[in-house]
Amino acid sequence: MRLGPYELSSNLFLSPLASYTNLPMRVTVRELGGLGWATTDLVNARSLLERNPTALKLVASSPEDRPMAIQLFGSVPEEMRDAAVMCQELGAQSVDINMGCPVKKVTKIGGGSAMMTELNKTAALVRGMIDAVKIPITAKMRLGWDEENLTAPDLARVLEGVGVAAIFVHGRTRAQGFAGRVNLAGIRSVVAAVRSIPVIGNGDITTPLAAKHMLDETGCAGVSIGRGAFYDPWIFRRTAHLLRTGELLPEPDFAERLRVLRRHFERYCEFFGEEHGSRLFRKVAPWYAKRFGPSKPFKRSILAINSRADFAAAIAEYLEWRAQFCDEHGALKEKFQPEPMMASFMRDPNATDVFDRDAIPVPKGAVDTW
Ligand SMILES: Cc1cc2nc3c(=O)[nH]c(=O)nc-3n(C[C@H](O)[C@H](O)[C@H](O)COP(=O)(O)O)c2cc1C
Repeated sequence: MRLGPYELSSNLFLSPLASYTNLPMRVTVRELGGLGWATTDLVNARSLLERNPTALKLVASSPEDRPMAIQLFGSVPEEMRDAAVMCQELGAQSVDINMGCPVKKVTKIGGGSAMMTELNKTAALVRGMIDAVKIPITAKMRLGWDEENLTAPDLARVLEGVGVAAIFVHGRTRAQGFAGRVNLAGIRSVVAAVRSIPVIGNGDITTPLAAKHMLDETGCAGVSIGRGAFYDPWIFRRTAHLLRTGELLPEPDFAERLRVLRRHFERYCEFFGEEHGSRLFRKVAPWYAKRFGPSKPFKRSILAINSRADFAAAIAEYLEWRAQFCDEHGALKEKFQPEPMMASFMRDPNATDVFDRDAIPVPKGAVDTW
């Protein structure tokens, strides 16, 4: 698919996940194949302009981290414009704007006409950015504030009018947080609202079949995967393969998961320094472990790592403990295999667990923000 001036190697995108989709994760996932595009975590435009070290770390990239978009957040038009210029100078292929939800203020004051004011304001801010840079500007939004205010189609249409190159839409409202089903009809209505720019659907894709289902049902040009890539960094390769050949590759085996876990960890140490990187990795490793089968002691011991040696020891201990669940060939016995993953929108609508927010766990803080 095309995004602005770029021809992408696939229509599969890595969603921004604050404090996870840093350079080590992006490169680790890219190396496994299938990923067409990755975006940094959310970066505060003002902090970037002030060259705040944390913001600069968030936008750090490398030649193998291409194509790469920087996601900006901010509401002051001049800051967003200048930060977009800075992203271009830093070598980003694109800037994505975190739109949050456009109608929060509107619902607070309860005015329909205020909504258009807000839309116009947003459009002016985006136009300022587009005029200032050569690289494409994209926007990421939810479907709207709540079921009664599904504003994404209007917003997408307005933004296409001012020149954004693509729209990313998480198929839930703000009110939903991360609960309930992803609304495929809602994504379809955003696709229908724009004339020619690609719409990239997002939300709850945890398997290649779910990615294909979202593409088929919504007509979106591509899909973006966030938490699904935590469990399964191979999801892009497996999805690209499914879309190309119709064949569903199996999930990677334990040895491959461990190999990539180690590589991801080593990159954390190189990028953040051994001690800090080890501490930060405490919240990454448990996601891998969710597909290990029984892994309670590992999840506990990984929470205490401060060094490469601690990490190696946690794995060695875990391997010894895990052997009791394996057969004579070292494979996990059938009854200990993790349940197959299933996206909210692929489940029986009457199943109650769809409405359980923890169906795919969400780290603290994310619900309020995204
Ligand atoms: C931990 C976490 C951090 C997130 N950070 C961002 C962010 O920085 N910017 C953003 O636009 N969305 C952010 N999101 C939302 C995701 O990009 C995505 O829209 C959402 O998780 C739904 O997709 P998924 O079900 O594939 O994860 C975040 C979500 C989570 C769970």
